Amino acid sequence: MKGQSKKQEEADDFGKVSFPKLPCPECFRDGVQGTKKSWASAQNLARQPSRVVVVRAITKRYKTMSYTMNAAEFNEKIMKGHFRKIYPVIAAQIVERTGVRSGRCVDLGGGPGMLGVCLAKITSLTVTVVDLMPECVELARENSAEAGVAERVDVVQGVAEALPFDDASIDLVVSRGSIFFWEDQQKGLAEVYRVLRPGGWAWIGGGFGTAELLREIEAAKADDPEWNRKRRERMTQNPPEHFRAILERLGIDGVVEHQEAGTWIIFRKPAEVEA
Ligand SMILES: C[S@@+](CC[C@H](N)C(=O)[O-])C[C@H]1O[C@@H](n2cnc3c(N)ncnc32)[C@H](O)[C@@H]1O
Repeated sequence: MKGQSKKQEEADDFGKVSFPKLPCPECFRDGVQGTKKSWASAQNLARQPSRVVVVRAITKRYKTMSYTMNAAEFNEKIMKGHFRKIYPVIAAQIVERTGVRSGRCVDLGGGPGMLGVCLAKITSLTVTVVDLMPECVELARENSAEAGVAERVDVVQGVAEALPFDDASIDLVVSRGSIFFWEDQQKGLAEVYRVLRPGGWAWIGGGFGTAELLREIEAAKADDPEWNRKRRERMTQNPPEHFRAILERLGIDGVVEHQEAGTWIIFRKPAEVEA
């Protein structure tokens, strides 16, 4: 339209794009700072013209991570590309070790939701993918529909540090590749513990399933030395002792397993603990 600034034109065009409806803030717990306000601002951000604006603004708000690739590209190239094989392997390892095959599961910082989707495929769990980025909400919806498990996978925008679930309501919390970016890891792990049912399991950390799969990915990423550098840097900044110290401070009886294929914090909420 004549006389309109370029920014305004872009904003108008963008207004025609339909965005995923974000979930109601009512499901957020009381006492979380600025809950309703921040939800409203997240919804506004999701309608803004530039993806970069959205990501930067949310990144600033939660002082977490920044993406150089847009989320859709990330989904195609990474999640469905060379990372594709790791999710079913990790999902099978989780089910074999925890024995959790039914009830409610949360894939925390699930991004496009591939781990949660793979868990839904091999169990009768209902899975909620939680991620701070609104774009991931839409991608996780698409991925669960593509895998034929959409009726047992839902997606919520939220953060680890203030999980939108009741106390003692979840049977299994999984999280891959996300804790390294949480603003407050201790608060996030306390939240995971809070929402677990007595007897429920948590499987939080990062990894590639097997050393062989890691090597495949490293080979596929040979032209991207930055990726390897950043991965190693994250490992150095988050050694197993660091997570063990957090568990100890929280009084959580768990293990931190560190192998070439990954680092995982694994714990079970004692069955006798009252909610
Ligand atoms: C490297 S991606 C991993 C995505 C997915 N779990 C996977 O393995 O494919 C990290 C994800 O964690 C999310 N994230 C970062 N900090 C978070 C927080 N505090 N709460 C919830 N999600 C968070 C990011 O938005 C991103 O989608």
